[in-house]
Amino acid sequence: MKSTPIILLLILSTITLNAQKTIDDRVDSLIKIMTLEEKVGQMNQYNGFWELTGPAPTDGLASKKYKHLELGWVGSMLNVRGVKNVRKIQEIAVNKTRLGIPIIFGFDIIHGHKTLSPIPLAEAASWDLEAIRKSAEIAATEAAAVGINWTFAPMVDISRDARWGRVMEGAGEDTYLGTKIGVERIKGFQGDDLSATNTIAATAKHFAAYGFAESGKDYNTVDISSSTLHNVVFPPFKAAVENDVKTVMNAFNVVNGVPATGNKYLQRDILKKKWNFQGFVISDWGSGVEMINHGFAENLEDVAVKSANAGSDMDMESYAYVNHLVASVRNGKVKEEVVDDAVRRILKVKFELGLFDDPFKYCNEAREKEMIYHPDHIAASLDMAKKSIVLLKNEKNILPLAKNEEGILVVGALANDKNSPLGSWRIGSDDNSAVSVLESLKEMNIDFDYEKGADVVVGETNFINEVKVNNTDKSGFGTAVEAAKKAKKIIMVLGEHGFQSGEGRSRAQLGLPGIQQELLEEIYAVNPNIVLVLMNGRPLTIPWADENIPAIVEAWQLGTQSGHAITSVLFGDYNPSGKLPMTFPRSVGQIPIYYNYLPTGRPGPKKAVFWSHYSDETNEPLYPFGYGLSYTTFEYSNFKANATNNNQIQVSVTVTNTGKMKGEEVVQLYIRDKVASISRPVKELKGFDKISLEGNESKEVTFTLTEDELGFYMPDGEFVFEKGTFEIMVGGNSKDLLRQEVILK
Ligand code: NOJ
Repeated sequence: MKSTPIILLLILSTITLNAQKTIDDRVDSLIKIMTLEEKVGQMNQYNGFWELTGPAPTDGLASKKYKHLELGWVGSMLNVRGVKNVRKIQEIAVNKTRLGIPIIFGFDIIHGHKTLSPIPLAEAASWDLEAIRKSAEIAATEAAAVGINWTFAPMVDISRDARWGRVMEGAGEDTYLGTKIGVERIKGFQGDDLSATNTIAATAKHFAAYGFAESGKDYNTVDISSSTLHNVVFPPFKAAVENDVKTVMNAFNVVNGVPATGNKYLQRDILKKKWNFQGFVISDWGSGVEMINHGFAENLEDVAVKSANAGSDMDMESYAYVNHLVASVRNGKVKEEVVDDAVRRILKVKFELGLFDDPFKYCNEAREKEMIYHPDHIAASLDMAKKSIVLLKNEKNILPLAKNEEGILVVGALANDKNSPLGSWRIGSDDNSAVSVLESLKEMNIDFDYEKGADVVVGETNFINEVKVNNTDKSGFGTAVEAAKKAKKIIMVLGEHGFQSGEGRSRAQLGLPGIQQELLEEIYAVNPNIVLVLMNGRPLTIPWADENIPAIVEAWQLGTQSGHAITSVLFGDYNPSGKLPMTFPRSVGQIPIYYNYLPTGRPGPKKAVFWSHYSDETNEPLYPFGYGLSYTTFEYSNFKANATNNNQIQVSVTVTNTGKMKGEEVVQLYIRDKVASISRPVKELKGFDKISLEGNESKEVTFTLTEDELGFYMPDGEFVFEKGTFEIMVGGNSKDLLRQEVILK
């Protein structure tokens, strides 16, 4: 059958009236007229592959991919962006292929496209769900305006290992917080109407347990218990599915020895059957072909068979489906229904995006120009950046600094860096587009001197290459120390470069990289009046700084508005309210360290050595999960926790701002199930409320705990609620808590 694509589109667009039914019917009608090759083509995703504005390639892999595009053997492309480029590819798909099925364009929009928000871990420190949702909305608006339909975000992997570079991309160590944040991000990206030109499809990734890479080394083996899988890893994915996430990405790692991409239990039994996921599964980049290295697949044909049968619907850059799936169906190793199911899922999302009704609806150059770096986006990213900052220490109220203070010295290469604060994962953005700390101080007319002290890294930095840390060049130490002797107060901006965290960027040491610790100590030796501003993509081990430096501000990598946000906190225009979404270890040897650990049989402390501890390090973290200070103080009182007769617990507590300055507090609720069929954590976050209080103001905060919060998953995945004694805890961090026991009979 040879029909022109336009006619086909018209037929497909007029089938029935009911909106949802229309899409299902249109998908079914289309599948009926597709050849097997065309179906498999929809399951194939290619990376952008030639100089798009130039002539079509004539040789090599690029020309092969180009031909596949013309044949309709490409369902999706990633990394192609910009209206001009997207339009060019879409024109080939729509006008040259037999059926004119539009391409879906995917891209890693992780914390913004051009306007960058703080890295996701930093955003999580805000505990501000509305702001986080807004941040994803803005990312979607800019992405959709440059022709993107689909982001590979949010990453909802829980991780307890700060060595893993990708902790910057998630919401930290806690399942409850991570679930709430993941859902808001999905809502922000997808909005209420996926076909609108400011929304994009989201991806919950990486299914599953990628955040449990052994020893924090990216792509490493995962060995995880069923109980942890069901109670810690799965919930954010399940919530994503319940909130209509359009796609799920599988992972590079094995679970129970089976690579996630070939893992039927994960993708078919749990995701598609138990949770009734209606969207499609995308593989991770080459995760199919990597099954050969895992020793799970023999060759690329085997990869195609095992991935398709296990429920991986679209192949990102393994070339397994495009080269072998048609034959595997013909020789009976894969049933055609498996292919039909995958194609149905993929086409459905394309219909929902409105691509069949107008394949060029995301290709509007005027909109592209208007939306990129829109002033509203900049304003929202500044708001998000301020909210992401965590005040870790403030001895004798050295902060906030007075704006007319004389004798301020700023030290550190990162203070003058317009690139590093953009963080990792910002491929679409413009290098050097962050506001630096120095720029912001100048705008504010603050009287200050600057000394670099030492570079953090040397040479070029980019998304794909290892950074070179400055371990030797101390040539700037001398002048910095001299200047420090004369200064009244010193702001030292130290930490990691933005490309020291992210994918493939695990670290075995988590102190200040290079010679920055030495610089800090040398400056301190001549002038201890230091405010340390940290920039980093993960928790760091900085016990010396905590012991000696009077004020420490955790400023992560805050994106486009970094400098403005930091100075607004340093000079008191914004009262910090962030709380850590991940435990800060004292030393790497404590990792994995997290607040919701299971109790041991030997908690101690005891005089004899026979209890669970280290002989050369405390069990305590440097800063616990949920921790963060304010320029004011909060007091918790009048704490009540009462059982109701429908298996619920009503909790209330009065929180008072005991200072004069207005401030925000994240009121946190934790539980412990004292005796259960399986051992339960010593505490688990089960509620939080971010409240704003004027000086001396009090507010009552209430929570209701239901069976959903009080129950847990058995290792076989069954959710159970068991009556008995629960310890209920409230407070401003996971350590300093008021406690009460409640019995549910
Ligand atoms: C590999 C990463 O693991 C994944 O998260 C990302 O979306 C893809 N590359 C595409 O860039």
